[in-house]
Amino acid sequence: MYIVFLGAPGAGKGTQAATVAEKLNLAHIASGDMFREAQKQETELAKQAKVYMEKGMLVPDDITIQMVLERIAAPDCERGVIFDGFPRTLEQAKALDEALGKQGKMIDSVVYIKVAEAELLERLSGRWICRQCQTPYHMVNSPPQTPGKCDRCGGELYQRPDDTPETVKERLKVYFAETAPLIDHYAQAGKLLEVGGEGGVDEVRERILASLEKETVK
Ligand code: AP5
Repeated sequence: MYIVFLGAPGAGKGTQAATVAEKLNLAHIASGDMFREAQKQETELAKQAKVYMEKGMLVPDDITIQMVLERIAAPDCERGVIFDGFPRTLEQAKALDEALGKQGKMIDSVVYIKVAEAELLERLSGRWICRQCQTPYHMVNSPPQTPGKCDRCGGELYQRPDDTPETVKERLKVYFAETAPLIDHYAQAGKLLEVGGEGGVDEVRERILASLEKETVK
């Protein structure tokens, strides 16, 4: 199964993709996490991406597509993938279709997690993530058991530099201009599963799993 998780910044893509991938035994590819990982290693790719990420802009398609297509060639992607935050432009969607098509595969479903803008802002302003494994927490909605420490790996929690109110505003603007058109694109292809992203984390996960299950028994 090849599944895309689509939604605005803060919709809960990362939170849900990690557990749904584990449950369905799929690889989890998060383009934002990959860029942040590369920054720890100070690679050339990271230097190029950082300039855009800091401003809340999309990293250019050529850099992003190359990074993700290299990743899907890894053996753990053979059993299927949940893409989280990729594709984010029509160009990226086309490149992914082509790359999967060459392997006789295709995107099966696109889970669009829909959340109202006021809720997105509230979620991003309270988000802390693990410096080591990138697990997201929320200081009110899903706090860690020990303040400042990741429940999964004990890593230090920090606030993403692009979660400041000004950068979030820019990220939302970019999302509506460049990524939201993918909603129609995948709806026309008959692949879109719209899921309400409000309510508790477990409740949203159950909705996503039910919607995917309904789709596979069709
Ligand atoms: P990326 O890291 O992908 O950020 P994003 O898409 O803006 O998404 P977020 O990580 O902000 O939100 P999310 O939907 O994953 O929400 P989360 O689960 O954390 O990208 C960052 C940057 O990298 C981009 O701006 C761009 O520069 C670059 N980039 C990445 N991919 C790219 C691409 N394909 N092309 C070009 N550039 C790219 O949840 C948010 C918060 O809400 C958390 O605190 C969480 O605990 C909480 N929460 C989650 N679910 C719930 C719930 N149900 N109820 C209450 N709280 C909840």
